[in-house]
Amino acid sequence: MLTQLQLDGNGPLHAQLTRALKQALATGQLRQGSRLPPTRFMSQQMGVSRNTVLAAYEQLRIEGYIDGRVGSGSYVTLPARPAPAPVETPPLPPQTRFAARARQVHDQDNLPGKRVPGVRFSFQYGAPYTHPAVTTAWSRELGHAALYTSPGYPWAQGLPELRQAICEYVLRRGVEARPEDVVIVAGTQQAVSLCARVLFDPGDPVAIEEPQYYAARVILQAYGAQLQPVPVDDQGLIVDALPATAPRVIYTTPSHQFPQGGTLPPERRAALLDYAARNSTWIIEDDYDGEIRYDARSLPSLKSQDEHGRVIYVGTFSKTLFPSLRLGYLVVPRGLRRDFISAKWMEDFGASAIDQAALAGFITSGACDRHLRRSLVALRERRDALLNGLHRMNEGRLSFIDTQAGMHIPVWLNHRDREQGHQFVDRARRMGLGLYSIAPYYLDPPDRAGLILGYAGLPVGDIEQALDVLRQCLDAEYGLRRH
Ligand SMILES: Cc1ncc(COP(=O)(O)O)c(C=O)c1O
Repeated sequence: MLTQLQLDGNGPLHAQLTRALKQALATGQLRQGSRLPPTRFMSQQMGVSRNTVLAAYEQLRIEGYIDGRVGSGSYVTLPARPAPAPVETPPLPPQTRFAARARQVHDQDNLPGKRVPGVRFSFQYGAPYTHPAVTTAWSRELGHAALYTSPGYPWAQGLPELRQAICEYVLRRGVEARPEDVVIVAGTQQAVSLCARVLFDPGDPVAIEEPQYYAARVILQAYGAQLQPVPVDDQGLIVDALPATAPRVIYTTPSHQFPQGGTLPPERRAALLDYAARNSTWIIEDDYDGEIRYDARSLPSLKSQDEHGRVIYVGTFSKTLFPSLRLGYLVVPRGLRRDFISAKWMEDFGASAIDQAALAGFITSGACDRHLRRSLVALRERRDALLNGLHRMNEGRLSFIDTQAGMHIPVWLNHRDREQGHQFVDRARRMGLGLYSIAPYYLDPPDRAGLILGYAGLPVGDIEQALDVLRQCLDAEYGLRRH
């Protein structure tokens, strides 16, 4: 009997399960000749799909750890081997100031939002909504792209057909771009990193929303930005609170403030653009989920009103498609175009041409719009299930608002401090539920217990079961409910 099989949270689930089983083999929990649990049982036990278990077993079979007898299951064929001890190499002193800053701000072993291992359900922000139809359409485009894409080095700026397709795609956000204004990048991550190279020097002041997108903050810090946190309210960035001495750059998420959820109203947008124009400040507009709105209130992007050419517009396919794609784009002011292309060329000579060609086909064939429409229906159902469940169990214990956008909801535990919030997350984990604290998304976290609940990756049935666990955690925390 297998006990304590733990998924480590790294990479695809089948790979995690394969590693966990190898570990069980190495520690002798699974001995030569013993039978692996039936796939159905294993899938229930681990809270993963049966296909995931089949894929893990198949991998072990390929590697010669098990063999299968039709109808009678899979048996361990290899004698248990001790897992090689990890080699610990003490780090050298940082060799550059960049490396020193990166060590300070980037804790590789403790990234917020990383999948919590060993839980049945997880409100993990960043897990995408997937649908079999998108996999089919995407693999068709990839197959076509593999046949017809030139095997030479790609354009550093991005494939012309993808840049053209992006120009049409961003019209829905009110952005009027020409293909020469677009730079294809490896997601928002790389977009922010290129902005850091092109727009400021180490030591320069850079304003950032407080709270903010963790990854953007870390990159800006690693490049030496002197961060100036600017508070947000339920409408997003408080433009009046921008520093009197203007920063070189402002990083902002005006359409859906991350993680609080506000939508910047028109008068603040105008004031922000005016501030940037008066002070020659650059604005990085991270429009990460601008396509995903559930009401009619959607405002066009800030970039669409950028008369003075101060906005660097950043879009990504991590939310609308999937984050493993690593494709996003910048729409840059004309005068900066050459700098961004050089910075991109120096990073990697350009994104994978096959992926770019596939994405261009995916957009122009209409598959992308079909997927978006389908996603919005499914995401709305998931969001409704989550919000209704939160309302039902609330009884004054939680504070949250429906921001009518995106794929997450920030939730506060009333009358609980930050430390109690961490304990709550730990308790949920012990009860099989992955929760995520909001604290890492602040430079200076408030002494309140807050969570960020991502729901895109959870089907409605799973959300309901996860909510049941959440309710039990709340009952344990606040005392039993009155009915
Ligand atoms: C605010 C924000 N920006 C951007 C992204 C996406 O980043 P990337 O395009 O690098 O995957 C996310 C995803 O979590 C996000 O929350």
